[in-house]
Amino acid sequence: MSLPLQVGLVGWRGMVGSVLMQRMSTERDFDAIETTFFSTSAAGKAAPKIDGCTVFEPILKDGNNITALKAMDVIITCQGGDYTKAIYKPLRESGWKGHWIDASKILRMQDDSIIILDPINMPVIQKALAKGVTNWIGGNCTVSCMLMGVGALYKAGLVEWMQTSTYQAASGGGAPNMRELLTQYGALYGEVADLLADPASAILEIDRKVAAKQHAFTPAETENFRGIPLGGNLIPWIDADRGDGTSLEEWKGGAETNKIMGLGAMFGTPEIPIDSTCVRIGSMRCHAQSLTFKLTKDVPLADIELMIANDNEWVSFVPNEREKTEKNLTAMNVAGTMNIPVGRVRKLAMGPQYLGAFTIGDQLLWGAAEPLRRMLRILQES
Ligand code: HSE
Repeated sequence: MSLPLQVGLVGWRGMVGSVLMQRMSTERDFDAIETTFFSTSAAGKAAPKIDGCTVFEPILKDGNNITALKAMDVIITCQGGDYTKAIYKPLRESGWKGHWIDASKILRMQDDSIIILDPINMPVIQKALAKGVTNWIGGNCTVSCMLMGVGALYKAGLVEWMQTSTYQAASGGGAPNMRELLTQYGALYGEVADLLADPASAILEIDRKVAAKQHAFTPAETENFRGIPLGGNLIPWIDADRGDGTSLEEWKGGAETNKIMGLGAMFGTPEIPIDSTCVRIGSMRCHAQSLTFKLTKDVPLADIELMIANDNEWVSFVPNEREKTEKNLTAMNVAGTMNIPVGRVRKLAMGPQYLGAFTIGDQLLWGAAEPLRRMLRILQES
């Protein structure tokens, strides 16, 4: 596309949207586009001032106004699923043929949508572009972060199956969930601060008081994780109950990984069996996963390490040693960065075709915002 694209941004103020704005600003994405900011609640007010962004429209347009949206070549929305449900269909029915780039899950599994993660599935994206696809949907954060780490094994056709246990951060639930977690940590600390200050105090007394406080949190103090405190706790269920023993998050792991890799009924190929147990833990914004693979053949460990390390510029391979793992393979180390460390890579006791690995990604960056801005670049260059 040669003329600057008219790009409408919706949902730029929320957590994912703010991370997207930061990334677009850092990468100077605004230089080559004409940006219009939309809002569903503050239309008519001044557009935001974002470093490096000269707004095409100085005022916020109404995000519910189909006519205004129709003037865009590309719409990027981080506004959430309800917005997509309300706006996408009428917008298409009005005859709009532009590109819809969406962070929400609503359109992800539709046959006319592609899940975007270009360092991993650029061939799938290019094929779809050539066919005239115009719906580009960001993947589930857990899936995107995992594939950024170990996508090499899928690309090489080496995965017979994969099972994962996740360690998912509070941010996956949203900004209020992060606040709630920290408030709970503070309240738990407050409960035992004087005992902690006394080196002679009994640890079992401290533990008892912490547990009592966890049980005593009020509904208001635990409302974001459905009444369960996450501070000092973990919750092995994420998203809706599908009624068959799996959570929606676990289902997405299999369905979306296959779709991203261009596998499954939509592509006329068999799916790779992928299953998981998804667990919420008290970290801030990085999703980690412990992965078990059955490989399609016995490949030397050194070859596997090289494949993973060389797959894309964001993977950092962490040798399977204690100090390097403790230093590099932590949520804290990855938060706020594009880095995707992969470590604990080793053959498992079950046999030479069984591989273990551990990977971490910032669920707001690679897990949400980054694939969206990269898709915009791909459209500009197509
Ligand atoms: N479902 C993810 C989570 C976030 O709750 O961590 C969105 O992909």
